[in-house]
Amino acid sequence: MSAPNKSYDPVGVASLEAEAIDAMVSAALADIETATDLDALKAVRLAHAGDKSPLALANREIGALPPAAKAEVGKRMGAARGAVKQAIEQREAQLAAERDARVLVEEAVDVTVPTDRRLRGARHPLSTLMDRMAEVFIAMGYEIAEGPEVEAEWFNFDALNIPPDHPARSMQDTFFVGSSESGVVLRTQTSPIQLRAMLDRELPVYVVAPGRVYRTDELDATHTPVFHQIEGLAIDEGITMAHLKGTLDHLAEAMFGAGVRTRLRPSYFPFTEPSAELDLECFVCRGASVGDPSNPCRTCGSEGWIEWGGCGMVNPRVLRAAGIDTDRYSGFAFGMGVERTLMFRHGVTDMRDMVEGDIRFSRAFGLEV
Ligand code: DAH
Repeated sequence: MSAPNKSYDPVGVASLEAEAIDAMVSAALADIETATDLDALKAVRLAHAGDKSPLALANREIGALPPAAKAEVGKRMGAARGAVKQAIEQREAQLAAERDARVLVEEAVDVTVPTDRRLRGARHPLSTLMDRMAEVFIAMGYEIAEGPEVEAEWFNFDALNIPPDHPARSMQDTFFVGSSESGVVLRTQTSPIQLRAMLDRELPVYVVAPGRVYRTDELDATHTPVFHQIEGLAIDEGITMAHLKGTLDHLAEAMFGAGVRTRLRPSYFPFTEPSAELDLECFVCRGASVGDPSNPCRTCGSEGWIEWGGCGMVNPRVLRAAGIDTDRYSGFAFGMGVERTLMFRHGVTDMRDMVEGDIRFSRAFGLEV
């Protein structure tokens, strides 16, 4: 005697009829066949082979069948589900292959297409260094002053107390615009900006003037006919040479590292009195190589000092040319080459590298714009 089968469900069992199962399989196969991509096939898989699919639901009813029917229906059901699963797998392989073929075409990279290999441009190291030097002064409250590169001979020479017979005025050094009588030159130094700044501005004057200058030199390792200087000028009450020295030491430290000193060597410039050559303490050996042949320094040639520029107290004649009361005001001035500064600071040994425009040179300084 067996107990009544409580889970017997005549509708459920009807779903296990051979025709019903065949219909489910045909419906599944039809959907599988019409799935056009892998996403659609995923939905078909869920509908026909998922836990809630008609086949899965029918399969659950097998348990409710009389034992004699179970084996046959179970076999039929297994075959049906197997057929659906296999059809899905085949279609999946087919759709995946189609997708791969499409991707290969759509995403193909044409390696023969020419590319833009131009490097991005950047400022020349001389320009960035000149800005750096000027910034040191701007931080101290100086202003930037400018003047023309095509300059009146009077500003470039006469007003700076450089008399007509001075060697710097001879044809060898100076590019004249037009004839040598024209009174117009390509400025040979940034010093004429001193005059222009004094005439243009209210006192006191604290200015720096970075700029391009010209001299009739042949281009070689240590000369170039076009180069750069940075000029400084301070005019105020009570300015002394101590202020000049402190200012130059500050610039030296900002450019070459803490503790580097400058040295003033007595010299002559027509527009300063007293005048001095400005030397920079060698920032590599700091003088340690002097008199020590076992320890030579390439940067200063074991001299301990490097010639950097010129400076001095502004000659009262220059102040007077600008209409300044020399009883009340005094000033200092200095000027140095930017190319030389770049050479020391970065170990550049040939000036031609700075003018030739080969990016293999300038790239080493970075791509600052
Ligand atoms: N202008 C000078 C030159 O080109 C350098 C110079 C020397 C500038 C002394 C100055 C200065 O302002 O005071 O050689």
